[in-house]
Order: sequence, then C-alpha cells, then structure tokens
Amino acid sequence: MRNFVLEGNLCYSITPKELKTLRGYVVCKNGICAGTFEEIPEEYQSFEVYDYSDMLIIPGMVDLHIHAPQYAFRGMGMDYELIEWLNTQTFPEEAKYADAEYAKKAYAIFAENMRKSATTRACIFGTIHREATEILMDLMEESGLVSYVGKVNMDRLAPESLLEQSADMSAFSTFGWINDIRGRYQYTRPILTPRFIPSCTDELMEQLREVQRTYQLPVQSHLSENQGEIEWVKQLRPDAAFYGDGYDKYDLFGDRNLDQEKVRTVMAHCVWSTDDEVRRIKDNGVFIAHCPASNMNLSSGIAPIRKYLDLDMKVGLGSDVAGGQTESIFRAITDAIQVSKMYWRHVDEKAKPVTFEEAFYMATKGGGEFFGKVGSFEDGYEFDALVLDDSALKSPNDLNIRQRIERAIYLSLDLNGIVAKYAAGRKIC
Ligand code: GUN
Ligand code: FE
Repeated sequence: MRNFVLEGNLCYSITPKELKTLRGYVVCKNGICAGTFEEIPEEYQSFEVYDYSDMLIIPGMVDLHIHAPQYAFRGMGMDYELIEWLNTQTFPEEAKYADAEYAKKAYAIFAENMRKSATTRACIFGTIHREATEILMDLMEESGLVSYVGKVNMDRLAPESLLEQSADMSAFSTFGWINDIRGRYQYTRPILTPRFIPSCTDELMEQLREVQRTYQLPVQSHLSENQGEIEWVKQLRPDAAFYGDGYDKYDLFGDRNLDQEKVRTVMAHCVWSTDDEVRRIKDNGVFIAHCPASNMNLSSGIAPIRKYLDLDMKVGLGSDVAGGQTESIFRAITDAIQVSKMYWRHVDEKAKPVTFEEAFYMATKGGGEFFGKVGSFEDGYEFDALVLDDSALKSPNDLNIRQRIERAIYLSLDLNGIVAKYAAGRKIC
C-alpha cells in the first residue's frame, strides 16, 4: 500500500545551496523515498502511478516550533514584548486547558488546520496539563502528521493557575504522562518541554534530567529570544555561564557528555546568543528553530541566521504560533529571507541575505533532520510530499520549476493550492 509513484514537477534540496528540480517521478517504497527519476526504473514498474500532470511536488514542510494552545489567539494581541505578552495574552489562555472540554474544542481546530497546512512534521508545545496534552496527542495522531508533542513543565513565575505545585509534582505528572501514552501512537511522540529557564526552578531541572535519562526523550525549549528575558535569566541562574548553559548544566542541551546517549534538542529563537553560546549550540549539535514572524511580532530582534548557516549549524524554521500569527511555513520561508535582508542592511553589512535555496532547505531538510532522514526526495528519506496546483497563478511567460516554486511560496499557495499531502508514506489530505 505504501508503494507508489508520484508524477509531476519535482523540487527538493540537496544542500542549503542546491535545489534540485526535474520533470519526472518520485518513488515511495515501503514509506521511504527511493529517489527521483526521469523515467520509472524497471523495478518500480509495478507500482501505482499518481499522475499530478503539470503540478508541483515538493517535500512536506517542517515546523520545529509551534504552541498548540496559543492557536486560539493567533493574530491577536500582538502589541507587546515577550514577558508582557506571556503575562497578558499567553498564560491566561493556556490556563484554560485545565478544562478537558475546552482542550478538545480548541485542539480539534488546531489539529484540523495543521492537517490542511503544508506542514508534515512539527515539534509542538502543549500546556502543563496532562489530560489536555493527551487529547492533543490523540488529535495529532488522527491528523496524520508526524509530530513531537510536549507536556510543558513550569513551577515558578507564572500565575498560580498555570503553575505545577512543585518540582516533584511537575516531574510526577511528566512520568505519568509518558507512561500513559506509551505504545498508544505510531506517529506522535513525546518530547520533554521545560518552558524556558524563568519557568523552571533548579529542582525541576534536576528532576527533568532524570526523566530525560530514564526515557531518552528529546528536548524542546526557548533560548535567548528577548533581551529582558536574558537579563532575567542572569539573575535567576547566576551559576550559568550563559543562557544555554542553564540547560546544559542539567544535560538538557544536546550532546554534552559523550559517555551518554545523545539528547536531541531543539531551541527556539537564538536571536541574542553570545559567541560562547553559539559555540556550545554548535558543539552540542543543538537544533535552532528560527521563528522570524514571532521575532518581528514580539519585537524580539533578528536572529543572525547567515552566521548560523555559515557555521554549518543545524537550523530549521518554526512558526511559533501565536508569537507568529500563522502556521504557514511558506510564510516562515519568506519571512526568514526578508528579515535577513533587513539584518544585512541595518545590522551587519557582511551578513549576506539568506537565499531562497537556503530558506527552502531550512523548511525541509534542515528542520527535517530533527526527525531523522526527512525533508528531501533523495533515496532513503521518509516519504513526505506536498502537491501544489499553481494553475490559478497566470503568467504570460514560460516559467521553470524553480521560478514556479518560489512564486508559489511567496504568494502563499498553501492557503488554497494544496492538492495532496503525504507524510511518512501515507496520503493524509
Ligand atoms: N518563552 C517562554 N514561553 C514562550 C512562548 O510561549 N512563546 C515564545 N515566543 N517565547 C516563550
Ligand atoms: Fe515559542
């Protein structure tokens, strides 16, 4: 059933600098991509062929950072910086997920819109609430996307209604959650989710290290997003050499200890990371989720992505809804390019803008690496694909595939041009 061939105009990343395009066939064998071809090779002649004629076929988009409970207020309440935004917009909304009925209603909308989006893979924050997080995971599994979902941990500096009572209670609830969902899903996986350093006491971080070691979970959190936040972290964690060291001290920051299993980690933002922090991120193989829309909306700043790309670091894109207003990774691609142009003009004339090739790479193969071999049509990659019909976008010229893909992304063809979507070898819309 998971052996088939798609025919159309293909486009995918080989490296951050090289986008491959061809008119032809991409083969899915047992859910895994067997490569792209101008003619179907002999060994795949028996596979069913889905002819998408003149349409565009690209890998599914990867969203390395999104908050499901914030989807309910996306596009609203944007006139704040991070801390004030958390206190006035975010925390009051997230507190509502103590109510399972509310969670069902809100998360059903989120999951359905994710299913219809261009995204095939996502790293998702829930809230502190175990029941609501399990509801979210059930819905994500039904959506067909492949996702990591995290029950958030926080035991300080938020309203009473959104705090776990102690580090012990937070860890206990996390153990309960992981045990509860064990074996329940095929495409939905748990990820350890300390909200950010200001939300987590040292005692909680210590406990989360134990949870991580016990279950070998990956980790997601926030890092060096906003200058006020960074000052706060300095006061709260004087033991840490820099913000990221506050996670690394508890082994929740990539691969520090070589005698240990690797801790797959993704940190959102890294707008203001110092040289020492950048070095640690790189040395530990931590993924950066670049969230340009959120960084604009919350006036956080512009992340130096040119530097991260040139240092060959692991960078993907995140929508960061509701800091970002939309789940569209097409939009994140153009935002990433556009903010890098402002950075070049206004901040550092040596930091050349991010190219379309590089942004497309981050949205697919770059972020996809967090999930394994994901985000390309090269042989051996998990089969995630998006079929786009751009026939409504008329042009007097004969456009090549590269031009048509760039136009489709800049003109938000994900809003009404998605004809089919495949994740891990299954057609999900
Ligand atoms: N830092 C801590 N929590 C959050 C959040 O929910 N969104 C963003 N953008 N940054 C955070
Ligand atoms: Fe976030």
